[in-house]
Amino acid sequence: MSKQKKSENEGQVEARVDALLKKMSLEEKVGQLNQVGGAAFSPGPAAEDQIRKGGAGSVLWLNDTKKFNELQKIAIEESPSGIPLLFALDVIHGYHTIFPVPLAMAASWDPKVPEKSQSVAAKEARAAGLHWTFGPMLDICRDARWGRIVEGAGEDPYLASAMAAAQVRGFQGDDVSDSERVLACAKHFAGYGYSDGGRDYDPVYLSESQLRNTVLPPFKAAVDVGVETFMSAYMDLNDVPATGNRFLLRKVLRDEWGFDGFVVSDAFAVANMVIQGHAKDRREAALRGLKSGMNMDMSSYTYTDNAAQLVEEGSLTEAEIDELVRPILTVKAKMGLFEKPYVDETLLDKVIALPEHRATSRWSAQRSMVLLRNEGGLLPLSKDVKKVAVLGPVADSMQATEGSWMVFGHTPAAVTVLQGIRAKLPNAEVTYASGPEIRRDIPSWFENLMAGQERKPEQTPAESEAAFQSALETAKAADQIIMVLGETDIMAGEAASRASLDLPGRQEELLKAVVALGKPVFLVLLNGRPLSINWAAENIPAILEAWEPGTEGGNAVADILFGDANPGGKLPVTFPRKGSHAPLYYARNTTHSPEDSPMYNPRYWDGLPVPLYPFGFGLSYTTFEFSNLKISSEKIKLGESLTVAVEVTNTGKLAGDEVAQLYIHQKHGTDTRPMRELKGFERITPATWRKEDCDLQTRQR
Ligand code: GLC
Repeated sequence: MSKQKKSENEGQVEARVDALLKKMSLEEKVGQLNQVGGAAFSPGPAAEDQIRKGGAGSVLWLNDTKKFNELQKIAIEESPSGIPLLFALDVIHGYHTIFPVPLAMAASWDPKVPEKSQSVAAKEARAAGLHWTFGPMLDICRDARWGRIVEGAGEDPYLASAMAAAQVRGFQGDDVSDSERVLACAKHFAGYGYSDGGRDYDPVYLSESQLRNTVLPPFKAAVDVGVETFMSAYMDLNDVPATGNRFLLRKVLRDEWGFDGFVVSDAFAVANMVIQGHAKDRREAALRGLKSGMNMDMSSYTYTDNAAQLVEEGSLTEAEIDELVRPILTVKAKMGLFEKPYVDETLLDKVIALPEHRATSRWSAQRSMVLLRNEGGLLPLSKDVKKVAVLGPVADSMQATEGSWMVFGHTPAAVTVLQGIRAKLPNAEVTYASGPEIRRDIPSWFENLMAGQERKPEQTPAESEAAFQSALETAKAADQIIMVLGETDIMAGEAASRASLDLPGRQEELLKAVVALGKPVFLVLLNGRPLSINWAAENIPAILEAWEPGTEGGNAVADILFGDANPGGKLPVTFPRKGSHAPLYYARNTTHSPEDSPMYNPRYWDGLPVPLYPFGFGLSYTTFEFSNLKISSEKIKLGESLTVAVEVTNTGKLAGDEVAQLYIHQKHGTDTRPMRELKGFERITPATWRKEDCDLQTRQR
């Protein structure tokens, strides 16, 4: 859209919002600040009644196209001002077609992966009648014990910023009036990934240096590409809940960054400020939220119950309420909801049937996978194999393959690793045994909430042993074994932190027993966080990190195992050797005792916290050579930039991708800085150069 056209539109939108605010009652304005839960577990009056009286601006936790139109009709035709609703849901990595989890997409080191994936997710979600997704999640995390590490882009602010911008572009496109886009939501603002001990919801203490240099950059990257909404975090940040934190919501977000969209709280978080001891009652919680610039109350009804009274008693002015309502009305007008509030109920079936959606999911999954080990070049495997055993508790699990954060009402439909391998080897005998089941010691409160996550009865010790022996028997009868181990979908994600990073249950025991049979064993990991697979790293020659790869995950795993795709992903997060080494990350300050100095002092006397696999690590089926490093100038001043160029040559026999990574090191400064910091990267496919095949080295910078 031309600049001139855009500013005309902005003028029209502003005039519409001004006119609306003039005629709306105070109760209606407060209604726009209220997000109503559409699910059984959300409190408060029925959504219909609340909407009819103009007491709701948005509805979440509902995934029903027909119901969306019914509620929208009430809002448009029966509420006092007929303001359309925003329908919102957590479409984190796919609506119907599921893509790799965001941590996996970050492992592609290719912003096109999240951008293309989230644009498909947006198209499907919008066709379902949704307007707004609660993504991307931008929390930097350096403690793999934190379950929500799966939802972010790992430990590095530079990589995470690139992924943040790409996801927002994918969801929103460049014009939110596009009927195939949804509003994005930069969350959880801010610092949530630093919860003490990786314990979800626990307090966070961050210095201004950590905030400015590590935690905030991905959020700023989202603002820079026009993200329309933010979501505040649950936890206390430096003893002030993020929900009522003026430093975050006013000073940084609005005063410094000029953000002009709106902020929604996390679930019930406005009311929770009473529990956190930041408000003596719900009235004060409402006041703190409103004063701090928290526009919308997610499903706690704290604003609805108190805001009008706060204005009447003079604790708040109606002008302050207007200031909070304005961006909500503005975004509804920008989306064209006043003109087109309803969704075509025949659209979704057509959209989700588009073949390119699953093709994009398979492509994303292939590019997200990381080859951790390939001793002797055993991978890719030959397709001529006769008898393959596929073993492990997640080898045929659709839930584990699609992973954490499915949307309400989604029925898992992934191609599992077992199914992908069977499809790849139609002439082979591909046998399967799950081995003993794996489960959380403490159930997730998400269980029984989502389709396919009903908590099943626990396997008895006898059943577990029988499953163990059956897996061994299956292995004995095969020529080679592919072990598929890792975590179930609810072992990572929200309320899914754990103290250990080991393979849960008896998986390692089974792996050792299978290896003891003396046959070729290969390992595929399905997991939502780094795992301390120390024994496997020493004893299994080929290991593929497949993460939680989505609807086409099994096919993508088979593509890579059998050579139809060459893995090119790199780790977006450090893999520690044990949970107690966390937080562990590459960008550590040099200190007076760095590893390469005579002054080096081992940080623990009971074992060095050396990463099992470092940030940025990943192998390929081919090899690469970097040469002719050039920089455009020896010196630059503050604020200037320089160009670094390097030649990358594929020195092997297979085409493949390499990720050129640029790190800087500060020798000295008023603040000490990490030994190295990522400041550039590019995933490239150097032209293949076979020494014996051609006399001209075709190289790509
Ligand atoms: C959850 C999460 C948040 C999500 C919200 C709405 O508790 O913290 O990420 O978007 O509630 O479902």
